[in-house]
Amino acid sequence: MQYQWYPGHMSKAKREMNESLKLIDAVIELVDARIPLSSKNPDIEKMSNGKAKVMLLNKSDMADPAVTKQWEQYYVKKGYFVVRLNSKVNKSNAKIKETVLTACADKIERDRKKGIKNRPIRAMICGIPNVGKSTFINTFVGKAVTQTGNKPGVTKGRQWIRIDNMIELLDTPGILWPKFDDVETGKKLAFIGSINDNILINSEMCYDLMRYINALYPDALEKTYDTKLSGDVFEDLKRIAVKRGCLLKGAEPDIERAAGIVINEFRAVKLGRLSLEKP
Ligand code: G4P
Repeated sequence: MQYQWYPGHMSKAKREMNESLKLIDAVIELVDARIPLSSKNPDIEKMSNGKAKVMLLNKSDMADPAVTKQWEQYYVKKGYFVVRLNSKVNKSNAKIKETVLTACADKIERDRKKGIKNRPIRAMICGIPNVGKSTFINTFVGKAVTQTGNKPGVTKGRQWIRIDNMIELLDTPGILWPKFDDVETGKKLAFIGSINDNILINSEMCYDLMRYINALYPDALEKTYDTKLSGDVFEDLKRIAVKRGCLLKGAEPDIERAAGIVINEFRAVKLGRLSLEKP
């Protein structure tokens, strides 16, 4: 199965983002803390050239905390201003504002020398689909300003949002990039729900996900499904199907249904806080 998704609206959104670049001082990129490398869009990286770069390691409440700390250090060394974040709660708002202003300190100082006072920092919010941009903006702004939802690509159009007299945000649609260099990138993006599920086959994605989990957290599947597993993903998904009562006529295991359950439970953190890549 091909893990590839780049519909036309993303290419249009990328063009519009490039047009907006001249207006902005900073790029705030959200990545998924479970896959901070694979969820980092190389096209956004190019757009960030010459701008202050803030990275929000979002959904860090879903990721392995020790691994997330390693990623934070990794990106700080690469010149990013990094905040570990759970967008669903507003505990980090002050820290994010402070981080954006610190990242733009040079720009603020240049403005000050030119006698420009109180010009807000303009930051573009970007990220791949489903990374939590709308949730972040709603929490950061303090009221629901953007539509959120669980379908990749739900955030549409361009929108400026004034946070206070210091910061203005430009919301942008979630975009991927035309071709993943590494097939593993596409798989991981699919696991976290950033590739439209409708173009994927549950069982195939689930086998790939189980291979990842077995390699990184060998006990997680057995613990969650409370059944002895063999390490052979084909066999094990059948066992999980039986355990969860997913049966077809003649007591055949319903593999597609069981696969859907495993994928949803991974996404709902029922298998634990799992990070799928390390620096
Ligand atoms: P997007 O605009 O980037 O496409 O993403 P959006 O905010 O719509 O978020 C996608 C899903 O991720 C939503 O869940 C949202 O609640 C969840 N989410 C976003 N940030 C975080 C986070 O930091 N931690 C956790 N645990 N979840 C986060 P959903 O199930 O699709 O919708 P809902 O039922 O939660 O509203």
